[in-house]
Amino acid sequence: MHAVSVCNVSTRLGRFCTGTASKLLPLTSLTGLRLRKQTFDGLVQRICSSFFSTSTVREKKMTSKKFEIAKRIQGTEKNVWVDISKLAVQQKSVNLGQGFPDFMAPEHVVQCLKDAVCSDTPGVHQYTRSFGHPRLVSALAQLYEPIFGRQIDPMTEILISIGGYGSLFSIIQGLVNPGDEVIIIEPFFDCYMPMVKAACGVPVFVPLRPTAAGQVTSSADWKLDESELSSKFNSKTKLIILNTPNNPLGKVFKKEELQVISDLCKKHDVVCIADEVYEWMTYDDNRHVRIATLPDMWERTVTIGSAGKTFSVTGWKLGWTIGPKHLVHCAQIMHQNCAYTCPTPMQEAVARGLEVEISRLGTPESYLTSLAKELQPKRDYLASVLAEVGMKPVVPQGGYFMMADYSNLVSDLPESDEAKDFRFVKWMTINKKLTVIPPTAFYSKEHEHMVDNYVRFCFIKKDSTLQQAAQILKHWND
Ligand SMILES: Cc1ncc(COP(=O)(O)O)c(C=O)c1O
Repeated sequence: MHAVSVCNVSTRLGRFCTGTASKLLPLTSLTGLRLRKQTFDGLVQRICSSFFSTSTVREKKMTSKKFEIAKRIQGTEKNVWVDISKLAVQQKSVNLGQGFPDFMAPEHVVQCLKDAVCSDTPGVHQYTRSFGHPRLVSALAQLYEPIFGRQIDPMTEILISIGGYGSLFSIIQGLVNPGDEVIIIEPFFDCYMPMVKAACGVPVFVPLRPTAAGQVTSSADWKLDESELSSKFNSKTKLIILNTPNNPLGKVFKKEELQVISDLCKKHDVVCIADEVYEWMTYDDNRHVRIATLPDMWERTVTIGSAGKTFSVTGWKLGWTIGPKHLVHCAQIMHQNCAYTCPTPMQEAVARGLEVEISRLGTPESYLTSLAKELQPKRDYLASVLAEVGMKPVVPQGGYFMMADYSNLVSDLPESDEAKDFRFVKWMTINKKLTVIPPTAFYSKEHEHMVDNYVRFCFIKKDSTLQQAAQILKHWND
């Protein structure tokens, strides 16, 4: 596989300047030109805005300070999902970007929604209890009691929110005071930082560091440096956010690693948010360990789960926060004053789906365990393709994403103020019709250099989609 220069792409750019985009940018304006910063940025921006909005040009400029975005969320405007997804749709690319399945959700779960929607119980179509539909919180308590090895009060120790996102938002806003420090382990799910900033908290970053190099490595090789981690804790530290299995890396934290975090939490009286939305997806002999089950950690941990991830229905957007009453209460108050409650038919459907799962636990029909079995061959296939084309995959222990180093594929990239991986992803989407996610979106500015040679692939996709992506990579220089 030879690296190609992507600066001389004008002829290839010509090919995609069709339809709406060509009205804005005639083909001839690019042919024969080297792709410079303004051209590339402008092109991507114009394509995106022309596709998704026709109103911007007509809008009256409102320059008064009063129309400015609130100070506490300034600097958080950029969003990788919005930007890259737009471009992928516009380019009709093979999309291994955002984390959602392109295959059908499990039949029994979809049936639960149909049954809920067709229910002639009037209440199913009306507001339900603010903190969670009673049938859903009861099912969750029943599912998680044996997992956490304790009784869970469905009314006071569980909150249902709009997705794992809503759970994160509610607990962060519900706990953080201005000036509180929040330790965020890198790479982190990108919304943690803006959510902490929106609460006027101070994000403090600590990166997982790669400890191995080679053609193929494992997410297990990315580790926290214990003394570096411990140096981040002080009297102002309120929270640490831990994501295991991790997105984007796929790292599944081992018990010993969690023990280090737990000891520091106890020593400095810190609360732990355990984002475990990929809890059911681990591979090989990797076991998902919950930090809340470590000694004396239940009292200081809230664990976050997602129906979207659990049942491969990301569009349903229901999440849960589970933990001790004194912490869940903080999230409940935020939630009641924000969304108030989540859609009842969705909650009813997830409740019914979980009841089915509870009855199937330990059997081959259990979706909670069969999904990982279905995903593992996809992971292995993608890893072998990436290794074959020289992309040095970091094979994940869990989740459904894989990081890989793209530096063997390209020698240089269009210049821009953007991080290298963003430029590469945009270039690849436009020129190769393959979309992935730039992982610097999961890093602070200070540490983004650690991954700007990487991209993140999502492999919860049909085999045929993964094969299409493989063809693109294998025929890179054709
Ligand atoms: C680590 C992590 N946490 C939380 C979420 C949000 O989950 P939901 O889609 O249920 O809002 C995601 C979604 O991708 C995620 O990757």
